[in-house]
Amino acid sequence: MTELNKVALKIISDGKGILAADESNGTMTKRLEAVNVGSTPESRLAFRETLFLSESIGEYIGGVILYDETINQRSSSGELITDMISKSGAIPGIKVDTGAKTLANSDEEKITEGLDGLRERLKKYYKLGARFTKWRGVYIINKNYPSKLAMHTNSHALARYSALVQECGMVPIIEPEVLMDGNHSADDCLSKTSEVIKRCFDELILQKIDLTGIILKPNMILPGNNSSDQISKEEISTKTVKCLKDSVPNEIPGIAFLSGGQSEIEATENLNLINKNNNTEFLMTYSYGRALQQSALKFWSKNINDIKGTQKIFNNRAKMCSLAAQGKWSSELENK
Ligand code: 13P
Repeated sequence: MTELNKVALKIISDGKGILAADESNGTMTKRLEAVNVGSTPESRLAFRETLFLSESIGEYIGGVILYDETINQRSSSGELITDMISKSGAIPGIKVDTGAKTLANSDEEKITEGLDGLRERLKKYYKLGARFTKWRGVYIINKNYPSKLAMHTNSHALARYSALVQECGMVPIIEPEVLMDGNHSADDCLSKTSEVIKRCFDELILQKIDLTGIILKPNMILPGNNSSDQISKEEISTKTVKCLKDSVPNEIPGIAFLSGGQSEIEATENLNLINKNNNTEFLMTYSYGRALQQSALKFWSKNINDIKGTQKIFNNRAKMCSLAAQGKWSSELENK
């Protein structure tokens, strides 16, 4: 077993998943302003530190993805944020892409940037304690998209990123996200997501990525958020498992889904059924941003000094996701 494989497994084994706390300052500002909290480096850290000091870090959360601002901050007690996370038994990670920008020669699609100078930035993050990284490629879906151009360029960037990350001794999280926006059916999402993932692995293999030392972070197979497609949660789970079984090479240690705009309960219930129907060798867990933080953020925004109360809500959400990652969740457990 290679070191990278060990790190990947440590992050996602035993019902553990990932807390994606890597919102850019722009996104975090939107999230904070939506609950009437001003967005400053201090307020962003105050909320995140509350989560990072929760009991669930290390117990249900095996890895925490940070943003550049946070990894360079110190906690209220003067500690490095990465040390604080490691001490709790979780592994600190870092988002290293610099965001999705307009893709030249495509009217509406995006290409994720951040390759220039990446090798040097990775060394700095490793020194700060990061042992895994994230890069998100994003795809819109309708009858014309994702285009071959978007799939080719984003897969190429994901693979170049992964090669540099493994060279630096860290595990790349590879996130090719097909967005939920639109009126497409779940079957459209299935066929397009399968194509996106297959193209991505073609490029990872071409660029000699060690597939045992990565974590794939895909979307679940869902109808678009403006679609009239009626589909049961059971079908969502079987289509999601089928997609991954057919398009992901067996060597990879595991899959950690993004929540992508699903509610906390939807993301938990879907993950639970995915695990009940998982007929693959892959671990299937969570790497949620919104679906782990939403209720905690709402409570915190009204009770900024109630650290314990905020942590209680976050711990419960993480526990429910962990149960779902083992196929042991039920709605009755939510209210216990
Ligand atoms: P969501 O779970 O809120 O989709 O965020 C996950 C993520 O890391 C997106 O890049």
